[in-house]
Amino acid sequence: MSDRPKVFVSRVIPDDGLRLVLDEADATVWQDDMPPSRDELLRSVEGCAGVLTLLTDRVDDEFLDRAGPQLKVVSNFAVGFDNIDVAACTARGVAVGNTPGVLTETTADLAWALLMAAARRLVEGDRYVRDGHWRTWGPMLLMGPDVHGATIGIVGFGRIGQAVARRARGFGMRILYQDLHRASPAVEAEYGATFMTLEGLLPQSDFVTLHVNLSEETRGLINRERLGWMKPTAVLVNTSRGPVVDSLALAEALQNGHIGAAALDVTDPEPIPVDHPLVGLDNCLIVPHIASASRATRGLMATMAAANLLAGVRGERLPTPVNPEVYDRPVG
Ligand code: GLV
Repeated sequence: MSDRPKVFVSRVIPDDGLRLVLDEADATVWQDDMPPSRDELLRSVEGCAGVLTLLTDRVDDEFLDRAGPQLKVVSNFAVGFDNIDVAACTARGVAVGNTPGVLTETTADLAWALLMAAARRLVEGDRYVRDGHWRTWGPMLLMGPDVHGATIGIVGFGRIGQAVARRARGFGMRILYQDLHRASPAVEAEYGATFMTLEGLLPQSDFVTLHVNLSEETRGLINRERLGWMKPTAVLVNTSRGPVVDSLALAEALQNGHIGAAALDVTDPEPIPVDHPLVGLDNCLIVPHIASASRATRGLMATMAAANLLAGVRGERLPTPVNPEVYDRPVG
């Protein structure tokens, strides 16, 4: 029997991180492109000292029971960790890691790409050409709002929200933001950003972009009522988590012209079925949760997730723990 720590890696991740895990641990790596089923996941984590999870894996009491008391660490290959019951992990002394920082700029790039694509109707234009409809230059063909000089409302002004604000500055935009906590005067001055309530921000914004964590407070944050506060020309961009937006209310708002367009990296449910009302709408652009998917960033996320996993199984403090309070628990 190997004296190396037993770990489970729930999907093939970039080699930069996978190699580190394979060098040090007795690792089982789930090889399929599809995630393990619940049963397969629970079976695979039995007896592990560490598990490297993806946001498609739910970590809860049942998972922790099946893993067993020797489990030391759950390392999520994501910055978000709404798939993990962190309190349950902390109560059992299990450290939880995530991958903050490395995907900030890449995610902001994708938010910006979505914003630009929805405003300037790139996907509709591409489809128009491929479908053979382009017969002449049209004075009113595929018009959309200007991005430069417009007002952007950033909901969630953490690392990623601020990275979006940096891009918005380059486009000469007026920047409004909303967050649970008001930023310092220095940060507000750096971005020229104005703090507002959602009631203030939504009616004034030409673009609304979401950068909050998913929590009980943010689930359904953009609901029917709040969509009603937005401009009929507004563009909603979501690169946070699908359930932050009420999908059916959004489909209605897009269909009825209550808002102009939406561009989504995340949906509820996810993956979104092709017969979902949002999928049939020309003014809704959807990509499959790829905000952090640059080759470099996914490599860095893999290295970081591996570093958290290996630190955890060695009994060391994780480089980026989600629950640092786990280290303050009385031992024994
Ligand atoms: C992706 O959505 C992440 O949280 O990293």
